[in-house]
Amino acid sequence: MNNKYFTIGQITDLHVGRKIPFPSGELDLYDQLVNAVDNLNSIDPPLDMAVISGDLANHGKEEDYIKVKSQLDRLKFPYFIVMGNHDQRETLKKVFSEHRYLVTDNEFIQYTIEDKPIRIIALDTLEPGTHYGLMCEKRIEWLENKLAELPERPTLIFMHHPPFDTGMPYPDHLGMHNKEAFAAVIKKNPQIEAISSGHTHRDSVVGWNGTVVYIAPSSAFSYGLEFHDVDDIDPLMEPPAARIFRWDAEVGLVAHLSYIGNYEFGLTEGMPEPPKN
Ligand SMILES: [Fe+2]
Ligand SMILES: [Fe+2]
Repeated sequence: MNNKYFTIGQITDLHVGRKIPFPSGELDLYDQLVNAVDNLNSIDPPLDMAVISGDLANHGKEEDYIKVKSQLDRLKFPYFIVMGNHDQRETLKKVFSEHRYLVTDNEFIQYTIEDKPIRIIALDTLEPGTHYGLMCEKRIEWLENKLAELPERPTLIFMHHPPFDTGMPYPDHLGMHNKEAFAAVIKKNPQIEAISSGHTHRDSVVGWNGTVVYIAPSSAFSYGLEFHDVDDIDPLMEPPAARIFRWDAEVGLVAHLSYIGNYEFGLTEGMPEPPKN
């Protein structure tokens, strides 16, 4: 870690265990994770840490978490896990047993990371047996107390379900419940630089209750930009991506996307010279 800035890679919605038939052939989402890890590892200078923001395994199965772990352990920097609606808390804890922060003093996997230049808070919106999310009073109270401990410290929150409606009815139906009570806590805490989520498998951003809320696209597959109310939605093979946050105390939190895959780079001259001024 250098002193000037701090970088965080976020990948989300891995859904390992799922195979998707596309006209060009079947896509095994485990292979997508291999590519995502390669992508994060290719960033230079190396990232300082990564957050895996939920839906790690499509059915929450132990065998799939073992496969997920085999890839995430290749990351050249520490990584932290956030629960998604497809995850199983106890199975995940068992497989990622050395991730001590997953063990909390209550049924939810919410934790803070205090030793970084920006404070990180991970929230748990999983409501077992459903695909919508919930930020219940107990989880909100935990967050309120944590925020009150360090009201001056710049803070970045990670959570799987976005806390706002995107205008896309299909994912919004599977969105987070109890948004208003959560919003009231966020509004009172201007130290929150941003909230970053996943779940919709699309890149979105909104100014919300005094902060910025991002949705990271999936590192495995996307869903279409669908503003109509539909009963079902098919996977779409847009380029998967990772969210890269670059925190610089003087500049703030800048959000980038790193597209996963091989894209042509056509300049024979190579990288352009930086401007001289
Ligand atoms: Fe997902
Ligand atoms: Fe999800």
